[in-house]
Amino acid sequence: MSRRFAPIAATVLAATVLSMPAAEAAPSIVGGEKGSLADHPYAVYLVDSHGTQFCGGVIVSRTAVATAAHCTIDVPPDETSVVAGREDKRSNDGVVLAVTDVWRHPDYRKPQQGSDLAVLTVRGQLPYRPAALARDASRYPAGTKATVLGWGRIADGGDRSDYLRQATVPLTDDATCRTGYPEYNPASMLCAGYPSGGTDACKGDSGGPLVTGATLVGIVSYGDGCGRPGKPGVYTRVTSFADDIAAHSGLG
Ligand code: ARG
Repeated sequence: MSRRFAPIAATVLAATVLSMPAAEAAPSIVGGEKGSLADHPYAVYLVDSHGTQFCGGVIVSRTAVATAAHCTIDVPPDETSVVAGREDKRSNDGVVLAVTDVWRHPDYRKPQQGSDLAVLTVRGQLPYRPAALARDASRYPAGTKATVLGWGRIADGGDRSDYLRQATVPLTDDATCRTGYPEYNPASMLCAGYPSGGTDACKGDSGGPLVTGATLVGIVSYGDGCGRPGKPGVYTRVTSFADDIAAHSGLG
């Protein structure tokens, strides 16, 4: 697996995906590369009171982090902290800020029913550039290449990554997403991945960003395994929730 910092070239990624048998042996976030906070300073992770990473998140304002609603259920918010500016979990880089408030989408029940969105308010300030929020859905058609980031499992059923990982995945059309997930609701969800699988978010990446450029288009929500053919990753569709995120982030 490459250890370069440079974002992987699309051709190299395509070749990697095509040559990969299926999900099993795929490295990384699953099929990705070492990630860079220089490129994606808004990528953060959530830790519990033991300092154990359990989800991802994305800085959306100086004081707020968007994540998945399901990341706010098992670990109580008063035991959750945001780690920002730290690519390597084993380092002391960046900041660790306590969560002081949680807004969870009122329609959230479980990831498969959508609205898998929460906004955490932190104590103090996040000294890193926030992601912009995607608002105009027509700018993100199927096929748009997006980047997913996280510190989650490096293989289906494997260990979590110590280092930030990133992978490039195309947004899928509604029909493809519905074929993989009959419960798919395009009003609230978005899918991304290659038809043959191989490149995907995985367990522990939940709540983390899916971006095009520095614009947040999705939040990692769920998937059937990781990187399986016909099973793209399912994301919370940010264009549907940009006003909610802004309203609960101090962005007005
Ligand atoms: N629910 C998972 C988590 O808690 C995220 C799964 C994303 N899976 C995927 N195949 N895209 O971290």
